[in-house]
Amino acid sequence: MFRNFKMVDRLVYGRGCLAQLEGILEERRNSESGGMVFLMDDVFHGGPLPSRIPIRDGDRLLWVNVDQEPTTVTVDSLVETVQSAGPNPSAGVIGVGGGSVMDLAKAVSVMLTNPGSAADYQGWDLVENSSIYHVGVPTLSGTGAEVSRTAVLIGPVRKLGINSDYSVFDQIVLDPDLTATVTDEQRFYTGMDCYIHCVESLNGTYLNAFSRAYGEKAMDLCREVFLAERTPESEEKLMIASLYGGMSIAYSQVGVCHALSYGLSYVLGLHHGIGNCVVFDALEEFYPESVDEFRTMCDRHGVSLPRHLTSSLSEDQFNTMTRVALSMDPLWENALGPDWKSRMTEDRVRELYEAM
Ligand SMILES: [Fe+2]
Repeated sequence: MFRNFKMVDRLVYGRGCLAQLEGILEERRNSESGGMVFLMDDVFHGGPLPSRIPIRDGDRLLWVNVDQEPTTVTVDSLVETVQSAGPNPSAGVIGVGGGSVMDLAKAVSVMLTNPGSAADYQGWDLVENSSIYHVGVPTLSGTGAEVSRTAVLIGPVRKLGINSDYSVFDQIVLDPDLTATVTDEQRFYTGMDCYIHCVESLNGTYLNAFSRAYGEKAMDLCREVFLAERTPESEEKLMIASLYGGMSIAYSQVGVCHALSYGLSYVLGLHHGIGNCVVFDALEEFYPESVDEFRTMCDRHGVSLPRHLTSSLSEDQFNTMTRVALSMDPLWENALGPDWKSRMTEDRVRELYEAM
C-alpha cells in the first residue's frame, strides 16, 4: 500500500506576505461562527508583531508559553478556554510561532471537535472528527511542523504526536521576515532539525523518488545556509528547506535520531532542536558522513553541544527513555529495516544514551 497523504491546502510565501492574512481569514468569517482564535508565542508579547496580526472584535488572542515543550494538558486547557467563550464554534485557529506553537494550533483545532483529552489521540490515525479551520504562521524555520500531519505533545506516558490527516493545516503563511528576531542559537538548533530530517529521510528504507527529490533539495539549501556566508536570502532558503524537509519525511519517515530524541526530551525536558543535536552527535555509526558535516556546521556557528546529560540519570529514567524511544516503531523500521528489533535492543539503546 502506498501512503495517500494529506497535504496543506493553501500556501502563501514571500517577504511581507503576513499582510495577506487579513484577506485570507476574511473568507472564513461568517455570522454563524464565533471569532478567530490566535495562539501566539509569548516571546512576541510587547513587540511589534501583535499589531500586524488581523485581530477583530470577537476574536481572541491567547498567549502561549513554550519554554517547555507543549503537553496534552496545555492543549486541554487551551480548548477549555476557547470553549468557555460561548456556544458558537470558533471560525478558526491561527498559530503564530515556532514548531511548538504550530503543534499546539494543530492539536487545539483537532480537540475543538473531538471529545476527551488530547492524550487520547496520541498515536496514528486516532482522530475521528474533522478539525476546525486552522492556519500556521511560522516564525522559526526548520521543524517542518508547518507541513507535517503530526502535533507533537508530551503526554502522561509518552512524548508522541497526534498523527492525523485532520491535524494538517488548511493554510500556511510563510513570511521569511518573521524569522528575523530569532536568536542565532535557536536558529541553528531548529535549522539542524531540518538537516536531520533530510539525513534520516535520505538514508531510510522508506525512501522513494518523491521524498528523495524534496530531501535532496532541502539538504542543499541547509548546506547553503549553514556552510556558507549568511546573506539576506539565507532566511528565505531556510524557510523553504524546512518546508521541503517536511515534505520529504511526509512520504518517508525520520529515523534513529528522532526516535532517541523523543525519549531524551521526555525525560530531560529538552526542546526538540537541541535534543536532536545532542543525539545526532552520538550517531556516527548510523550516519557517519552526515555526523561529520553536522560537526563542521556546529564549529562554523560556534555551537558547543551540552555533554554528559545522562550521567546522573537514575535507572528508572533510563528505562523510561528507552521505553519511549523503542515505542517509535515506524522510525526504527525506516532507519534499520523490518528486522530492526534484532539490531536495536534495550541494551543498545541504553549504550547510545550513556554516550550523550
Ligand atoms: Fe524533527
